[in-house]
Formats: sequence, structure tokens, C-alpha cells
Amino acid sequence: MLDGNAHSAVALDRVLLDHRVLDHGVADAALPGLLATRKTLPPKLFYDAEGCRLFGEITRLPEYYPTRTELALLRDIAVEAVSGLSTGSALVEYGASDETKARLLLDAGGLFTAYVPIDVAEGALDALTKRLHRSQPALRVHPVVADFLAPFALPGAVRGQPLTGFFPGSTIGNLDPDSAHRFLVTARRVLGEDSRFLVGVDLQKDPALLIPAYDDAQGVTAAFNLNLLRRLNREAAADFDLGGFAHRADWNADAGRIEMHLVSRRAQTVHVAGHRIRFAAGETIHTENSYKHTLTGFQDFARAAGWHPVQSWTDPARLFSVHLLAAGSLSVVK
Ligand code: AVJ
Repeated sequence: MLDGNAHSAVALDRVLLDHRVLDHGVADAALPGLLATRKTLPPKLFYDAEGCRLFGEITRLPEYYPTRTELALLRDIAVEAVSGLSTGSALVEYGASDETKARLLLDAGGLFTAYVPIDVAEGALDALTKRLHRSQPALRVHPVVADFLAPFALPGAVRGQPLTGFFPGSTIGNLDPDSAHRFLVTARRVLGEDSRFLVGVDLQKDPALLIPAYDDAQGVTAAFNLNLLRRLNREAAADFDLGGFAHRADWNADAGRIEMHLVSRRAQTVHVAGHRIRFAAGETIHTENSYKHTLTGFQDFARAAGWHPVQSWTDPARLFSVHLLAAGSLSVVK
């Protein structure tokens, strides 16, 4: 049935199709990849309410080292990472579904007077804005509901302020190298000539550690991956049989990335938003790439996009890295 609580813009865009709900935004994001010869789905579709909840569970799994490693690293380097910033800076976070990591920077020296969290998950953004209003009443919070890969405008209130971009979690690893390059070029233009950018980047390591991080013993990552199909059933007039697909995580050594797939357990036909989609047994939907870098590999990559690597940090086990980049030339380089 139609969702009576939906915002009117969304409700207008929803129609009933064979008694199923169709959200054109979700269907438009899903269909091109499902109709292609090699089937894909875009990772941004993971993050409905249940997907956000499951991702939160992933970050607490024993096998999923990135979140806790990056948090510990940020705790260690926060003061150093913001040193040299002028007071009255604004922190602009790309993909900000919670403020835990940003708080480490916001609390390190009180240099930031404004925080701009950007995310597609409007509910998560509302909740974090309320929490920050309560805990840091002096901080101006300007949330932006947007897909940070699409063009968006910074809030007028922070224009003219020195800006520090923040892109933690190795979310940049979701982008293929061309898109990641374009993203870094655009971010430099949006943040401006005097800006800096702190980027969290997962490092290449033994596949024996990498694979379980994306295929955990409790099956939480499998549930996260399969939730995509549940979401399409609910929002894109689809009829996937969730038992007909299996989660798989592969390390692609040539590309330097973890790949997540949903493998069709048998030959089957599925309907999505009025389209008939056929699967051969063993055929997959490629749902996510998670690129892993080397320390110098990422520095070179950032340089090619016009950023100056100022400093890079890793944890003692060299699992994860945080890079400080500067848009302008050498004035801030130590
Ligand atoms: C949020 C994109 C960084 O690639 O590690 C976790 C998402 N996917 N487990 C990652 C994810 C499967 C995560 N990022």
C-alpha cells in the first residue's frame, strides 16, 4: 500500500504497480545495473533504516577492524591533525550518519565553530543534529541531505569560513578509481583553495584478514547484503526470493578491492519495477567494491587529483590510514 506518512514529494513519486509499491528514486537507482549484462546495484541503496542498523552492527563485529581501528587512530592524532587550523573553521563531513568520529576532531582544541554533516540518510542526520545541539550548544550545525557524489551546495552560513573536509570510514573505497578521482577534484573545488581534507583509507593486507571482515561468522554482513533485495521488494515493486540468493565476498587482487556479490542459487526470473530480469544459476549481482590502498598509493592518488599530502598516519598494525591533504600549495606542509 501507499505510505501515507511519506513526504508529499515522495508520495507523488510513488505509484502502485501490480499491487507493489514503487519508489521511482529507488527503482531508477537500481534498474540500470540490474538490466546490464553484468548485474550491479549501487551501494548507496544499502542504507535504508534496516541497512543503517545492520551497518552499525557490522562496525561492532570482531572481524570488522576498520571502524574501531580508525576511531583509535583518530583519537591519537586528533590534536595533531587539526593543529595549524585557524579558529572559526568549519568541519564538512562527507557521509555523516553519526557524529562519533567528527566529535574527536570537534573536541580537539575547539577550533571549529560550525559542522556540516552531509548524508543521504535524513533520519540519521536529524538525530545527530539534535544530539549535537544538546551536547555542543555553541557549535553551529548545518546538515545537508544529499548524495555527496552528486553536485550539492554548501550552506551559505559557512561560505567564507576556512573549511576542513572529513571523509572517514574508507567510504572513498566504495568508488571506482575514476569516480574517486573525480570526487577528490570536486571536493577540492567545493572546499576551496585554503581548505584541508582528512580522509580515512583502509590499507591492503592479508586476504585472510580482509575476507572475514566482509563475510563474518555471525552472518551480519550477509544480512546487510541481502537487505538490498528486501528493500527493492518493499520500495521498487520487486519480488526477489531472498532464499534464492547467497552472500559472497571476494578479494580481487588485481584491482585491489573486496567485492561483495549476491549469487543466484538457481536459474530464476525476478520482476523489478515492471521489468523482467533473468538470472542463470551462479550469476551474481555485484553490490559493492571496497578498494584497499597502500600508504604511498593513496598519496599519489590524492596528488593526481590536485591535493597536497601533508601527513599520513597509521595504527601500529598498519591496518588503516588517515591522510591530511591540503588544497593549496606548500604553506601548510611540514
Ligand atoms: C562504509 C563503505 C566503508 O566498505 O567497509 C561494510 C561498507 N560493506 N561491510 C566498507 C561495508 C560491507 C563499508 N564502507
